[in-house]
Amino acid sequence: MSNVTKPQEMIELIFSYITQISAERSAENILMMLADMGRRLVYADRCTVWMVNRKKETLWTKVAHGIDPIEIPMSAGIVGRCVRDKKHLIINNVYADPDFHGEVDRQTGYLTKNMMVIPMFNHDGNIIGAFQVINKLPKDEVFVQEDLRYIMLASTYAAETIETSLLLEEIDATQKEVVYIMGVTGESRSKETGNHVKRVAEYSRILAQAYGLSEEEVDTLTGASPMHDLGKIAIPDAVLNKPGRFNEAERKIMDTHAELGYNILKGSERTLLKAAAIVSYQHHEKWDGSGYPNSLKGEEIHIYGRITAIADVFDALGSDRVYKKAWSDEKIFNLFKEERGRHFDPKLTDLFFENLENFLAVRDELQDEFMHE
Ligand code: C2E
Ligand code: SIN
Ligand code: SIN
Ligand code: SIN
Ligand code: FE
Ligand code: FE
Repeated sequence: MSNVTKPQEMIELIFSYITQISAERSAENILMMLADMGRRLVYADRCTVWMVNRKKETLWTKVAHGIDPIEIPMSAGIVGRCVRDKKHLIINNVYADPDFHGEVDRQTGYLTKNMMVIPMFNHDGNIIGAFQVINKLPKDEVFVQEDLRYIMLASTYAAETIETSLLLEEIDATQKEVVYIMGVTGESRSKETGNHVKRVAEYSRILAQAYGLSEEEVDTLTGASPMHDLGKIAIPDAVLNKPGRFNEAERKIMDTHAELGYNILKGSERTLLKAAAIVSYQHHEKWDGSGYPNSLKGEEIHIYGRITAIADVFDALGSDRVYKKAWSDEKIFNLFKEERGRHFDPKLTDLFFENLENFLAVRDELQDEFMHE
C-alpha cells in the first residue's frame, strides 16, 4: 500500500510541522499549516480546518493566502453535521449528499468528490472545530479506517495549538484596544495622578482575593478597575476641575460619567473591557440602593462594582482633590464603619478592615509624586 504513510514517515512529517507551527503566531496561518499537515498525512488533495464561532453559530476557515476567511452557518454542510453530531464521517460521493454545502468549492473553483470529516475537541471535551480532508489520492481512491486514525492523532495536537494561538491573539487584541482607549483617555484633563489608578487597581486586587474570586477574575478586575472613571473624559473642564464644591447642576453633570464610561466600553467583546464597562457603570452604586446611575441594591450590584466602590472611595478620601483636602485616617475609618451596609457591601467592609495593613502598604508604596508647576 503506497497511499498510506508509514509510521516513521509520519513522525517525521508531524515533527517538521510542529517545528514550523510553533514559530507562528497568527491563528489563521496556523489553521492553514495544520490543513497542509492533514492533507499530507493521509494523502489527500486538500484539507480544511474549520473552527467553531459559538457567538455567531458559524464555522469559519482560512483556505489560502489572499482569500478572506470563509464562514458558513453551523447548521450547514457535512462539516456542520459532523460538529453537531460530534461524530466523524466518511463520505464517498459528496455531491449526492443532501447536506453538502459547497461554499469552499464555489469560492475556490475546486471540485470535491469524497471527504472525511472528524470533530476536534479541546481539553474540556468541548467541540472547537473539525478537520476535513478532501479527495483521497491517488485519484479515485477513497478514505479508509487507517486514514481516520492518522488524522485523529493530528487533530488532538491541532486542537491544542489552535486554542493557544487564539488565546494569544485575544491577548494581543485586548492590549491594542486598551492602548487605544488609554490614548483617548490621555486627553483627559482630570488632575488626578497616574498613581490614583494604580492604587485603585491594587486595592481592588486585595479585596477580590480576600473575597475569594478566582485567580482569573482577580486579574480581570485588577486590570479593569483603573478604568472606572473613564467617562470623566467627557465632563466639561469647568465642572471636572472646579476648585470648590459642586452646585446641584454641576453634580448632575458629573453623575453622568458612570454611564458615559459604560457607553464607551460596552461594545467590546473582550473580557477585560467588558469588566471595565461594568466597573464604570456601577462604581457609584451603593449597597442600600441610594447610589447612581441606576439605584441598584445589594447583590444587584456586580461584585466588581462593589469592590471598586470601596477602592475608589478609600483612595479619594485619602487624597487631596481640587475640591477638598485629604482626610485623616481616623475620619476615613469612621466613614467606612458608618457606611458598612449603607454605601458599602458589609462583607467587603469587614474584609477591608481585616486587610487594612495591606491597604496601607499599597498607599505608602504608591504615593502621589510632587507635581512641579
Ligand atoms: P473622586 O474625587 O474620585 O471621589 C470618588 C468618591 O469618593 C465620591 O464619589 C464619593 O463617594 C467619595 N468622596 C470623595 N470625596 C468625598 C468627601 O469629601 N466626602 C464624602 N462623604 N465622600 C467623598 P462621588 O461623590 O459620586 O463623586 C464622583 C466624582 O465627582 C469625584 O471623584 C470627583 O471627581 C467629582 N466630585 C464630586 N464632588 C465634587 C465637588 O464638590 N467638586 C468637584 N470639583 N468635584 C467633585
Ligand atoms: C492545502 O491544500 O493543503 C491548503 C488548504 C486548502 O487549500 O484547502
Ligand atoms: C463547504 O465547503 O461549504 C463545507 C463543505 C461541507 O461540508 O458541506
Ligand atoms: C463628594 O464629596 O463627592 C460628595 C459627598 C460629600 O460632599 O460629602
Ligand atoms: Fe467615579
Ligand atoms: Fe476615581
